[in-house]
Amino acid sequence: MDKLIVEKSGPLSGTVTISGSKNAALPILMACILPTGRIELQNVPRLADIRTSCKLLNILGCNTSFEGNTVVIECGQLNPHAPYELVKTMRASVLCLGPLLAVLGEARVSMPGGCAIGARPVDIHLTGLEQLGATFELEEGYIIGRTDGLKGAHIVMRFPSVGATEHLIMAAAMAEGETVIENAAREPEVADLANFLNACGARIEGQGTSVIRIEGVNGLRGTTYRVMSDRIEAGTFMMAAPLTGGELLLEHCPLPELDAVAVKLREMGVCIEEVAGGVRVACGDDLVGVDVETMPYPGFPTDMQAQITTLMCSAKGLSMVEENIFENRFMHVMELNRMGADIKVKGHTAIIKGMRKLVGAPVMASDLRASASLVLAGLVAEGKTEVQRIYHLDRGYEKMEDKLTAVGARITRVRA
Ligand code: EPZ
Repeated sequence: MDKLIVEKSGPLSGTVTISGSKNAALPILMACILPTGRIELQNVPRLADIRTSCKLLNILGCNTSFEGNTVVIECGQLNPHAPYELVKTMRASVLCLGPLLAVLGEARVSMPGGCAIGARPVDIHLTGLEQLGATFELEEGYIIGRTDGLKGAHIVMRFPSVGATEHLIMAAAMAEGETVIENAAREPEVADLANFLNACGARIEGQGTSVIRIEGVNGLRGTTYRVMSDRIEAGTFMMAAPLTGGELLLEHCPLPELDAVAVKLREMGVCIEEVAGGVRVACGDDLVGVDVETMPYPGFPTDMQAQITTLMCSAKGLSMVEENIFENRFMHVMELNRMGADIKVKGHTAIIKGMRKLVGAPVMASDLRASASLVLAGLVAEGKTEVQRIYHLDRGYEKMEDKLTAVGARITRVRA
């Protein structure tokens, strides 16, 4: 397994180009099962999860080609079976269930397991799909879904699940009649999926709000669509600048979708401003600690929690982080404490003591965003930090070490 050797790096300085959004591209790729005809997706990040999604589409009967950051998809005769061997490597594969039901009336998709950050159930997905007219059985770890034809429904989600909202939008796009989804997730990636489907001829409105209306259509056609920028990658680099006392220009940075993160960083003393060519992020005066509670969008994103925890270790005073979305998303804390951080976790809350001198150490990545927080910590820790199991990082960040090296970081990848 590859690892990254990260050394204490001087102030980062230069321009970073933000890639396309993993969490928008993944559902959009699953939605490509729905239209007939050629689909061209632009600004798709070259990531392990994207390659896995293309592999799944191939297994389901679609032709896919991935050149540069463009994916071309054309679906032929579909087959309803998404195998365990693939779904176990990427939970988001479960989103093919709804589109397969919409097109074929049947699906056999491996039940996704949990992951390091939580149990990750899909009950909200299945309850909503049942309201649309699907029936499910669980057989040897597979969800066997059937329908005589999906029909519009009025769905009130018990929690604004991102994946479940995306799943129901896809399933409802060609259902008979109108579907209303209340308490829908408002994340920008959900809106990007809806905008893609509308470009294919769907009739969706309200995306980005908590009430989404979908008027089912008889069919969808291929289109060309540019995936939105990755706000979590951008937010991660927003932390790297002040952490090293440097200044970065982030090109293609979706600042409006990072409002909650920008508010907290400015509270800490980070300078963030829109300038010609992107967003400039620099360290202001000494950083001061803040309190953060992760919430569904537009609240502070859980996917930025590990990264801001690393920044808080360098800030003055105490900080507090409350993780309200996932039940086990503090695994980076143990690793940061091994580097000299002083973080105490009690239930869903972490208390971080600031002004800590971190010291490099071998550390273990446990999930995607935890990996990013450990790389960030390595940039300021004395000596060398060896971040192991960085396959987690490769799932969600396109060429992270190249982008960081280009602005002055000292990072090398050791291939296993
Ligand atoms: C998406 O996951 C993202 N992944 C996650 O990003 C992100 O952390 C999460 O949304 C929240 O913003 C992708 O988009 C591929 P949820 P998703 O359904 O859809 C519970 C990253 O690092 N829940 O909003 O799985 C669930 O257990 C990844 O890029 C149910 O109980 O998130 C969790 O506690 C990590 N039942 C909470 O809701 C359900 O049926 C939020 O989950 C569905 C979810």
